[in-house]
Amino acid sequence: MMKGLQRLLLALLVLVAATAQSQDAKMKVFVDALMKKMTLEEKIGQLNLLTPGGGILTGAVVSQDVDTKIRNGQVGGLFGVIGMEKIKTVQTIAVTQTRLKIPLLFGSDVIHGYKTTFPIPLGLASSWDIPLIQSTAAAAANEASADGLNWAFSPMVDIARDPRWGRVAEGAGEDPYLGSQVSKAMVRGYQGNDLSKNNTLMACVKHFALYGAAEAGRDYNTTDMSLVKMYNEYLPPYKAAVDAGTGSVMSSFNEINGVPATGNKWLLTDLLRKQWGFKGFVVSDYTSLNEMMDHGMGDLQNCSALALNAGLDMDMVGEGFLTTIKKSLAEGKVTLKTIDDACRRILEAKYKLGLFEDPFRYCNEERMKSEVMNAEVRKFTREAARHTFVLLKNDNQLLPLKKTGTIALIGPLADSRENMLGTWAVSGDSKYAVTVLEGFKNMLSGRAEIIYAKGANISDDSALAAHVNVFGPRIDIDKRSPEEMIDEAVAAANKAQVVVLVAGEASEMSGEAASRTDLSLPASQKRLIAALQKTGKPIVMVLMSGRPQVIEAESKTVPAIIEVWHPGTEAGNAVADVIFGDYNPSGKLTMTFPRNMGQIPIYYAAKSTGRPNDGDNFGKFKSNYLDAPNSPLYPFGYGLSYTKFSYSDLRLSGNTMKAAETITATVTVSNTGNYDGEETVQLYIRDLVGTIGRPLKELKGFQKVFLKKGESKEISFVINNELLKFYNASLKYDSEPGKFQVFIGTNSSETKRGEFELVK
Ligand code: BGC
Repeated sequence: MMKGLQRLLLALLVLVAATAQSQDAKMKVFVDALMKKMTLEEKIGQLNLLTPGGGILTGAVVSQDVDTKIRNGQVGGLFGVIGMEKIKTVQTIAVTQTRLKIPLLFGSDVIHGYKTTFPIPLGLASSWDIPLIQSTAAAAANEASADGLNWAFSPMVDIARDPRWGRVAEGAGEDPYLGSQVSKAMVRGYQGNDLSKNNTLMACVKHFALYGAAEAGRDYNTTDMSLVKMYNEYLPPYKAAVDAGTGSVMSSFNEINGVPATGNKWLLTDLLRKQWGFKGFVVSDYTSLNEMMDHGMGDLQNCSALALNAGLDMDMVGEGFLTTIKKSLAEGKVTLKTIDDACRRILEAKYKLGLFEDPFRYCNEERMKSEVMNAEVRKFTREAARHTFVLLKNDNQLLPLKKTGTIALIGPLADSRENMLGTWAVSGDSKYAVTVLEGFKNMLSGRAEIIYAKGANISDDSALAAHVNVFGPRIDIDKRSPEEMIDEAVAAANKAQVVVLVAGEASEMSGEAASRTDLSLPASQKRLIAALQKTGKPIVMVLMSGRPQVIEAESKTVPAIIEVWHPGTEAGNAVADVIFGDYNPSGKLTMTFPRNMGQIPIYYAAKSTGRPNDGDNFGKFKSNYLDAPNSPLYPFGYGLSYTKFSYSDLRLSGNTMKAAETITATVTVSNTGNYDGEETVQLYIRDLVGTIGRPLKELKGFQKVFLKKGESKEISFVINNELLKFYNASLKYDSEPGKFQVFIGTNSSETKRGEFELVK
């Protein structure tokens, strides 16, 4: 029976491989024939990606320059053209008015949804719900492709351990294992199993590579890292995307060990293509090719030749390829073969997307009408958002709130439509977003009274506001004085039984070029909290932010805190669902919350030093601080529920394991509280002995389990040799014999522990 099944599976695999081979062969014949007809200029034209001026500008699509360049065959693709009709118009030019009628790629930053906006990616990751994350990407692809697009500049999978860096909002957080799961899921979600279907997008994993390790958390800054650290901790999520078949890769802005990623041959060719077998194309980030001049790599011609020779195929916006590659060919600085290879990869992408067969495959009016911002996808964003909230504190079971009485809803983010979508929602329209005030009204109308007061500005700092408000008013400084606003809020609190305070960051206080050196709540909000505390009313703080915040002070005095990130289109409804108990929160942090700025960078999978400290006890000549403990405020994996989960009885199926064997680790998880709820059971492993120092703990598995009140379940993880492998000092990927600790628990700090030995 087993044998029969195996044979059948094998036959199927052979068939799939054979079909793929014959499709590849067909594609080769097609692209060969096309390239024979192409002039050198037309080939270079394919390597050129332009934007006519950003998704928010209208009418610029057929602006003279872009229009002419398209007609001249000098453009391979566009981004920032939003709207099916516009895309259709431009594609029509490409396929009717150019010599070879080659269709264009249409890309966009579809980062967390398209018009219907899902929670920011850091929030989505906090759900630890991989199928859900995949479905959000599939829903975004469905919607964006119905509006004419065929290429998403996503997923961003940069491992981020420094919350000063604003772009942590766009990724999955600090962990390579979780990050890799998310990366794969998103690529699969966007691309489905067939790129040529009209409801899929080609993915573009970014930013390759190590962009999240920018020194001092300052955007675009340098990274310098050992190969061992790269391979073990930073590269896995990019590799996962490549393994999942991402059609494209975006090079990053930063330099890596001296050479900018966009011109880094080791990165783009040796690692990406030769070691990982990547077959798609590499696009630069926005003018990152030109920026190599500022990195000190010579003039534009030199940088362009360097980038092409390094393995870059498409130049975003900078036109370095367009204006210099022909000259470099004549001067022998690049070869025709290199140009041909890059051009072929772009044409292959277009072929796989089905654009040669039907350039208007993604321009279907009926699909646009039925799929863009439909009720179903809105419903799904609400559902998704509820799963992303992380309950940080809940003294005396203050939450969930009852749907009765008088509730004071206070705070600069409580009724702030323009801040609900979060950063990088370029196609999202905040006018459709639901504020918390609206969500509360929808939930409570006729049942409880809501008194709203803004209470404070997000910040009173007008210079900060000017930096943040580049895409429109996000920090809206009120005409009233801070005192007046606080008085109004205190009066509201005095009339209520409970205060819900919506505090945190404006959406553009995180994201690109939004690095911050102080992540504590702005002074205006701290003053408001202090005034509200004097009323003696219980306070629930709903924290909206694009990154971990420094809230040690508030964690000591505010009885209930829930991190909701920037939740997207259905923000207010989802927040109401959770605050009033229609959904029991289940999110877990994927980035450590530090106690203070000085602890940054802080992450759970750190190494032991030779002088490890004893918990949080200070020890002279130990690796610790004089003025704060080493432990974070809230660790990776942390998140509470309205119910309580207890862990007991961790047992391993054996004490020793050979490489070909497995050990099963089992734990009993019980719901001992008063609500049904979902828990994310986490498995960590520590390799106690190695040829290089190994992290104190590494996430190696997790399972989401739903337990009814009073219910217990046994949860098992199978540990195999694969989970124990790492890159050693010679970059050999293997396990090493010796003792391992196994930890299973509710977060990276609170775990049950076991031990086994790997015998080799
Ligand atoms: C960002 C990329 C983005 C690109 C195009 C750049 O500034 O770094 O993530 O995809 O712009 O909008």
